[in-house]
Amino acid sequence: MTITRIGVVGCGLMGAGITQVMAAAGYPTRVCEAAAAPLQRGLERIRAGYDRAVKKGTLAQVDADAAFARITPSLDRRDLADCDLVIEAIAEDLTLKTTLFAELDAICGPQAILASNTSSIPIHQLAQATTRPDRVAGFHFFNPVPVMQLIELVSTPFTSNETQQALHAVGTQLAKTVVDVQDVSGFIVNRLLIPYLFDAVRLLEQGIASRNAIDTAMKLGCGYPMGPLLLLDVIGIDTAVAIGDVLAREFNDAHLAPPQRLREMVAQGLLGRKSGQGFYTTTV
Ligand code: 3HC
Repeated sequence: MTITRIGVVGCGLMGAGITQVMAAAGYPTRVCEAAAAPLQRGLERIRAGYDRAVKKGTLAQVDADAAFARITPSLDRRDLADCDLVIEAIAEDLTLKTTLFAELDAICGPQAILASNTSSIPIHQLAQATTRPDRVAGFHFFNPVPVMQLIELVSTPFTSNETQQALHAVGTQLAKTVVDVQDVSGFIVNRLLIPYLFDAVRLLEQGIASRNAIDTAMKLGCGYPMGPLLLLDVIGIDTAVAIGDVLAREFNDAHLAPPQRLREMVAQGLLGRKSGQGFYTTTV
């Protein structure tokens, strides 16, 4: 099966990044949002992403313009009817996602693959909402999407070889590395990363070290590109909390649940880079 037309649902941090790389790789890409304001913000984020690459000299202005022209924004999911692959990148909420998968199943052609960029929700729970579990998989990108080279391809026992091969081919077209993983909450990266990030917050909560000490220690002591508290800001505090809640539920392990400090930050609107303030203040 050849994928020629891509749909993306959700134009937040991840949806915008996925749309940006898909269009840059040559795919006509439809991106759908629920309302005009977030769609506009997402398109501005994509434009800024291309501008950044042009400024750096890695993308010619003419190619950036051509990529942007391949993107069709929409407020109506029915516009995704002729897409071969639709990638869901909405909030990390099981009810929202299962409702969306059922809707996409009704809208899209029978051959279309429905993929989720979920960070933690087991894919079979989404596949069950459709009549095509053989054509449902996880296709998990990392933030910032234009930079991070990995995609996790999550297959359930029902995902067909044809679906896996088609998604591998998309990964190749994007010049990213695709790793295969079975359908378990958090997959590889978030299963290992999220407990580490939460433990960093607990060290801070317990007054064991300052924010800067924790982040400096992991950068210089382990060679990580950024410390855990800054990385939480990059991922989004609300997203990290949502992932932790799913992991804790799926593994029945309270230690995987988000520390109280993160819940308080979400209640105060301190969401990290996306809101301008998290553990750090973002200066644009
Ligand atoms: N968009 C496009 N390009 C960007 C970018 C962005 N938002 N941020 C940085 N870049 C590019 C820069 O232009 C630069 O490219 P170049 O090397 O070709 O010139 C390169 O990335 C390095 O950027 P900088 O020199 O400005 O900054 P750093 O060296 O600090 O790198 C970073 C920034 C790439 C974000 C690096 O700090 C990093 O890798 N951090 C870890 C990110 C990470 O772990 N992400 C995964 C999070 S988990 C996740 O997403 C899963 C989800 O389910 C929660």
